[in-house]
Order: sequence, then C-alpha cells, then structure tokens
Amino acid sequence: MNSSVKVVPLERVPAPLLAVAVGALNGKVPTSLLGLDDHLGGALERAIESGDFKGDRDQTQLFYAAKNPRRVLLVGLGRLAEMTRGAARRAAAVAGRKAATLGVEHLAVHLAHEYRGGVGPATVGQVLLEGVMQGAWQFRIKAVSDGKPPVKTVDLIATREERPEMERGRAVGHAMAIGGKLARNLQALPGNICTPEYLATIARQLGRAYGFKVTVMDRAQVESEGMGGLMAVSRGSQQEPRFITLEHRGAGRSPPVGLVGKGVTFDSGGISIKPAQNMEDMKYDMSGAAAVLGTFEVLGQIKPPVNVVGVIPATENLPSGTALKPGDVVRSHFGKTIEIVNTDAEGRLILADALSYVRRFKPACVIDAATLTGAITVALGNAAIGLMGNDDHLIAEVGRAGDRAGERCWQLPLWDEYRELNKSEIADVKNSGGRGAGSISAAWFLREFVDGYPWAHLDIAGTAYHDAEQPTEGKGPVGIGVRLFSEFILARARG
Ligand code: BES
Ligand code: MN
Ligand code: ZN
Repeated sequence: MNSSVKVVPLERVPAPLLAVAVGALNGKVPTSLLGLDDHLGGALERAIESGDFKGDRDQTQLFYAAKNPRRVLLVGLGRLAEMTRGAARRAAAVAGRKAATLGVEHLAVHLAHEYRGGVGPATVGQVLLEGVMQGAWQFRIKAVSDGKPPVKTVDLIATREERPEMERGRAVGHAMAIGGKLARNLQALPGNICTPEYLATIARQLGRAYGFKVTVMDRAQVESEGMGGLMAVSRGSQQEPRFITLEHRGAGRSPPVGLVGKGVTFDSGGISIKPAQNMEDMKYDMSGAAAVLGTFEVLGQIKPPVNVVGVIPATENLPSGTALKPGDVVRSHFGKTIEIVNTDAEGRLILADALSYVRRFKPACVIDAATLTGAITVALGNAAIGLMGNDDHLIAEVGRAGDRAGERCWQLPLWDEYRELNKSEIADVKNSGGRGAGSISAAWFLREFVDGYPWAHLDIAGTAYHDAEQPTEGKGPVGIGVRLFSEFILARARG
C-alpha cells in the first residue's frame, strides 16, 4: 500500500473515489464542501436537504460525477458531543471497506474541517490511514479470483497549512496499518500453513528487514532450557515448538518493554478435546503472537527510542498417544510444579514459561496478549479486551494506550481470594480454576510465574476475530493488540 498527503481542492482530487467524513448535518451542506457540491451538480445538497443523508454513524451515500473524483462517498461520523479520534478512524474504516467492495484501487480520504473538534492534523492523518487499512483489508487463498483488486493507494486530502503535521501522522498511521496487516494475515492463515516454525520464519524475516536480533529455540533447546509448560503442550504434536525472541534496540542499555504473545497455531484442546463446532476458529489462537510480530513491524518502521523485547512461545495443542494427559504434573521454567487438570488450558502453560524466561532481560515492564479464555467473552463480549495485572500504574498506562488505539480494555480484579481457585492437592498450582471467574483464575495462574517486574495481561479471546461482518471490517481477524502495543511504546518514547 502507498499513502501520501495531498493538497488539492476536493473537487479536483485526482482519484476515482473520494470519501468525505461528516458529522450530523442540520439539513445543510457544510461550507467546506460547497465546491464539491458544485462538482456533483448539487447532488450533495439534494441528499442532505431531503434528509436522506443525515451524517449518522456508519451511514454512507455514494454520488457520481463525470470526471474525477468520479465517485464521492459521504460517510457519517454520527452525532458528536465531542469529536474523537475513534469516530474519525471508524468513518475511515467504513470508507475503506466500501472501496474494497467496489474494487477501487485508489482512494482519497478527507475529514471535513467542520467536524474536527479538538483533533489535530497529525492525529487525523494517523487515524484516517489506520481506519482505511482496517476497512480495506482482505485475505483469500483462492485459485479463482473474484477479480476485485485490493486498495493500493490512499491519499489524505489536506490544506497547505496542516500538511506537514498531517504528514507526520500519516507516517505513524502507515506503520500501524502495515503492522496490523501483517498480524491479520498471520491470523488468517490456516494452521497447516501457519505453524510454530512459520511464525519463527516471519520473526527472522522481520529481523533481517529491520535489524532486530532474533533468536529461535527448537524443541531440544526448549527442553534444555527447562520450559516444562511449552514442552508439555507440544508433546502431542508432530510440529516442533518454537520459542521466539525479537529485540528492538532504540535506547542503548536501558531496560526493555517486554511483549509476550501466545502462539498456539492450532488449539484442538488436546486430550481434553474441544467440540467440533467452530473448532476451525482455533487457528486464531496465535493472535497474541501475531500482535507481537505486527508491533515489531511498526517498531521497524518508526524506530522509536525505546528498547523492546518480544517473546513468543509457539506450539500446536493436539491429542495423540504422546500427548499431555489430565492428571499429569509438569515442572515449569520458573520451578513451580503444575498439575494439569485440563489440557485445553494450554495457553497459560506456555505463557508461564515465557513470563519466567523474560526475566533475563530485566524488563521495565511486561505486557502479554493471549486468546486465553472463552470466559472473557462471557464477561465482556466482543467490545473490550480483558485487562489484569500486578501494578495499577501499568494497568492504567495500558488502558490509556488502548483508548488511543481504539482497542479498548476493561479491568477485572486480581484479588487474593481468586488465587485459591488454582490450588492443587499435589502440585504448587493446577492449570484450571473451574468455571467461575475463568478469566481471572487464568490471569492469576500467569501471575504465579511473574516475578520482579510490573506486568499487565490482555485477554484478547473476545476481540481477536469477528464471527460476523462489521460496518468497519469483514468477518475474521482483527489484528488486535498491534495498535495498543505500539501506542504504549510510542508514548514511552515521548517520555
Ligand atoms: N484458546 C482457548 C480460549 C479461546 C476460546 C479463545 C474461545 C478464543 C475463543 C483456550 O486455550 C482455552 O481453551 N481455554 C479454556 C480454559 C478452560 C479449559 C479452563 C476455555 O476458555 O474454555
Ligand atoms: Mn485451549
Ligand atoms: Zn488456547
């Protein structure tokens, strides 16, 4: 994808499709769009004065002209008490989605000046690009194509004065967009292609492209490192596990931000096997890993002055004659022993080893992202990431990054009472605390292996993919976490 900021009157935009975001309209064409209305022979005025187009959220209306911009798409921002970056990103996503369904390769986007509120040009540039790419993303592995080309070029339309600032935001938005795209492509890939070794290959590619140090441990190294959790989960699979680390050095020897991503490339549940219904969605069980890899693409593009270490334990979770069994006890990297009561609670086993291993980097803080529990969907549905941790300052900082990113988080408590849920008769801890407070007991399990650093946990099982079409994007993977992680790191870079 190419993107740029262009200074040109709306009615002379040299693209086949111009999308303009507007808020609630009081039956009048906004002044900044009068030239565009002339270009369309007064069609904007007719649509708005008739009350057909009101600027409601997600509302769209397409107009046609004789020359470029041949198509003009109005997109509603809704009734805004206060303009937000989220509303602008959302309208851009609706526009991007429309461009993709129309098969338009070149799209220009503009947020009408009347509806900017306090949102400055840099932010506008960033979120418009993020939104367009979110909405336009498509993925297919089809031998027979539907003939619709993807969106290749995005122009942001600006005034001369705002151009330099918008250009700064565009560069950030572009990085976010391609990082998000990497994450979503990885999520979309089926388990027979996206294996643990495949994730390692992508990490190595990022390392070569951007100069990150990347290390990949194979099964023998995972074993000799004492990673009993990762070894246990991978035991049922023919695919070897991989333990992947990536290091971005932007700030000399200062302590890094640690990012940990669950990389289960397919979760059948193992011996505690899942029902067949929707089991194919368990290819998405590496969405945390995808978020970490996508974030490293953003880091490579922007090169912020922060140190970041990414850690990905990657494995399949399958049943077989060699698989882990309920009742087995394994010894984790941290040293604590774990009684396996449910082999489908595998994410926490591999994350336990990762959270223990990451101590060797002496991290300033660690954030993990994992499709960890179905219970988070019971608690929060698909609208929020479950946020937990051991440090209120870090939790608040992560929450703010999620707000800026449009990847909202909601905190659940990790009170001491919940720790009891994971008590085992024979081992230090057991890997499932039962049905009640399932997301909290899972997070408490992780916390047993966190030592010496502030830690926040993101349960993304409800937000990693959609099982129905959305106004802002199609069905399927979301790339959740890339923007949140990146916003978090960029804010730390600003100090
Ligand atoms: N990967 C699943 C969680 C999940 C469920 C992600 C639905 C996305 C959609 C995880 O490994 C799992 O199976 N968790 C179990 C834990 C239980 C056995 C304690 C669950 O949520 O049922
Ligand atoms: Mn599972
Ligand atoms: Zn899982």
